[in-house]
Amino acid sequence: MNKEVFISNRKRLMERVEDNSLVILFAGNAPKKSADEAYPFTPNRNFYYLTGIDEEEHIITLRKKDNKVEEVLFIKKPDLEKEKWLGKTIRKNEAIEISGVDEVKYLEEFLPFVHSSIITNGITNIWLDLERDSFNEDATYTEKFAKKLMRKYPYVNIKCIYNYIAELRLVKSEEEVKEIRKAIRVTIDGVEMLMKHAKPGIKEYELEAYFDFVCKKEGAKDYAFKTIAAAGKNAAVLHYVANNSEINDGDLILFDLGAQVNYYNGDISRTIPANGKFEGRKKDVYNAVLRVNEKIIDAIKPGANWGKINEMANDLLAEEMIGLGLIKDKKDYRKYYWHSIGHSLGLDCHDVGPRWVDLKPGMIFTVEPGLYIEEEGIGVRIEDDVLVTEDGNEVLTKEMIKSVEEIENFMAK
Ligand code: GLY
Ligand code: MN
Ligand code: MN
Repeated sequence: MNKEVFISNRKRLMERVEDNSLVILFAGNAPKKSADEAYPFTPNRNFYYLTGIDEEEHIITLRKKDNKVEEVLFIKKPDLEKEKWLGKTIRKNEAIEISGVDEVKYLEEFLPFVHSSIITNGITNIWLDLERDSFNEDATYTEKFAKKLMRKYPYVNIKCIYNYIAELRLVKSEEEVKEIRKAIRVTIDGVEMLMKHAKPGIKEYELEAYFDFVCKKEGAKDYAFKTIAAAGKNAAVLHYVANNSEINDGDLILFDLGAQVNYYNGDISRTIPANGKFEGRKKDVYNAVLRVNEKIIDAIKPGANWGKINEMANDLLAEEMIGLGLIKDKKDYRKYYWHSIGHSLGLDCHDVGPRWVDLKPGMIFTVEPGLYIEEEGIGVRIEDDVLVTEDGNEVLTKEMIKSVEEIENFMAK
């Protein structure tokens, strides 16, 4: 992406931060896997959102003093011996080219910079990304750093920048939408490849492999999440990822997957008949979910409230369940549908930001109603990615076929 995107992200963030502040974000490290092997590195998304840089250990600092902002990126000093094994790390001029920051220094200078910011430059607020998922989670690297700061400079205020960045990330810039469109394009190509090869007798992981092949071939570096390829009753487990069962004639196959391009994600679910024909009850259940998918998409426009849309989806699905004879009383709908209608999509598949918001142009939400009837071996989810526009919405996944007729025709070819 163009560096202007990251410059703008930093500018908009620093407009919200008070004077005498230093914002510090870490790119992070790949955790150890086993022996001398690490898990693949992926940058802290808030660091990436502000820099566009995706290498380990780097640190971005944004210092606001007398209402002027100084940006300094701290990078690893090149280690020429190590580079013979692992390849080159980013150079100062490259870091400026990618991120557009004012200045780049080496990591050795980071702690003295923090110290002088507090002692010489009168910084009284230090803002860190102190996101945590649960009370019991181990302390993150940033929390440990915060603790050190509190011990050494007990008069400094430690503040959490996470919500400010998350709120910015909720509304996508045009450039971000472009990246998501690319991820969706690869995802659709992958789904089509997988659908071409779907047939009774093969294993779920074989279908996953066709999707993986297209993602790799089209240059996607990663996936939005571990692919779900679930046949028959496996589809009643929302995040079934074992993908190791044989597909039977008559099964519906639910797949939920996404390619990731430049860290932006696509997220699509489709449900198809293994033998190419939606029949009887399965067709009825499929069409019930499809009606809800379409009605919810129609409700997406600026000013609509995501919480209300979620309630509308609950109600519509409950009505469909009554129509299908699954329940008698709407309040029992959780028996066959127990997630929410969707989520913001962006640099994270389940993207950050406040959840039950009033929709604004630039937000992207998934719409993913489902019905999961384990006792009948049926699980259906139909998921699209929808951009809120000035006058309504655009279905970014519109090229991914979804009607019974379209899917049957495609599979008959
Ligand atoms: N499989 C993740 C999602 O669709 O939200
Ligand atoms: Mn999904
Ligand atoms: Mn989703």
